[in-house]
Amino acid sequence: MALDLEDARRLYHFAFNAEDRARLPFYAALLTALEHDEQAQVLLAEVRVEQRNPMLILASLHLAALKGHPVLTPIYSRARTGQMENPSRAATEVLGVVNDEPDTVHRELHRSTQTNEPGRSAVFRAVIALIAQRGHRVINIVDVGTSAGINLYFDRFPVRSRDDENPLTLVCRDDSPIDRSLPLPDVVSRIGLDLAPLDLSIEDDRLWLQACYWPEEPRRMARLDAVLAARPSWPTTTILTGSARDRLGDALALCDPSALTIVVNSYALGYFSESDQIAFFDEMTQRCASANVAWISLESPFMVQWATSLTTSDEARKGGTQILVTLPGGSPTQWGWCQHHGLWMTLDDDAIASSNA
Ligand SMILES: C[S@@+](CC[C@H](N)C(=O)[O-])C[C@H]1O[C@@H](n2cnc3c(N)ncnc32)[C@H](O)[C@@H]1O
Repeated sequence: MALDLEDARRLYHFAFNAEDRARLPFYAALLTALEHDEQAQVLLAEVRVEQRNPMLILASLHLAALKGHPVLTPIYSRARTGQMENPSRAATEVLGVVNDEPDTVHRELHRSTQTNEPGRSAVFRAVIALIAQRGHRVINIVDVGTSAGINLYFDRFPVRSRDDENPLTLVCRDDSPIDRSLPLPDVVSRIGLDLAPLDLSIEDDRLWLQACYWPEEPRRMARLDAVLAARPSWPTTTILTGSARDRLGDALALCDPSALTIVVNSYALGYFSESDQIAFFDEMTQRCASANVAWISLESPFMVQWATSLTTSDEARKGGTQILVTLPGGSPTQWGWCQHHGLWMTLDDDAIASSNA
């Protein structure tokens, strides 16, 4: 079958929203260079359909840089330390590697995009505190597409509107009034589920997770280092390997039935097949309707094929992430929007107040 290079070109073109392009000049220049390069288009077009995402190409190049590639390592190190004077020239040099040594990228394409972003915990925290307000003092949390399981520790990250000395702090701008002082529930079990979970005690998994981060964001890298250091003292998690379709029931069976179970997913569903996305939506809707289960979904409305995806709203057009919440006994309701790494969030008080449960 012929490769669809035009489709690959479009994927590079739309990989970053305007906010990301303005913040990250090196990656923005690199995506533009990749978009117009045939070898880069071929590499992306060859990836299996669920993982055909430019982030996989970016992460493969970043991995080579982290492993000491003679051309890439100094470029990425300049990006990380804010010393990159000419992002376009750097992007051209990286493109030279893509063309001269395509295997540097090609040999990593069996992997998956597995960015595990604790910034999303700023959103989970706020929404979970609001759910707890409805009389749920103890919860199980189940994270579907958990990657390294970092968001199972949503309650371990302080959230502030400005950065401080603590590397674990999540900086989130509240674009609507959000009461960050609401108490969080106790967490009795933390269960993750992933097709291929990352084990941070394995060097290759750790390096791949770092490679999925963006080099121009040293603050995120520093937070990951702080998570790695803190994690041995945090509560244990249970991580199941397998697809959401096969293992969601197993994950839920591990939960304490006397506590509310909150199932979360963030930037995972876009990597499911279309039929698995719909099956997951149907299963979660049914489980919330009939059991002590709530569901928080943070996904791009352009990446999921659900009737609740509002791709026509302004927030969606700007690249926002939809906050979809289903309370026990209720139906999926849009509670608001957030930035894809949790840098801002806005909640709709009326939607929250009228959520049925
Ligand atoms: C981009 S990462 C997001 C990780 C995490 N949810 C976060 O927000 O930081 C997507 C994760 O979903 C997992 N994944 C993809 N398809 C899956 C499936 N069908 N079932 C379970 N996990 C899946 C991938 O292995 C990957 O670790």
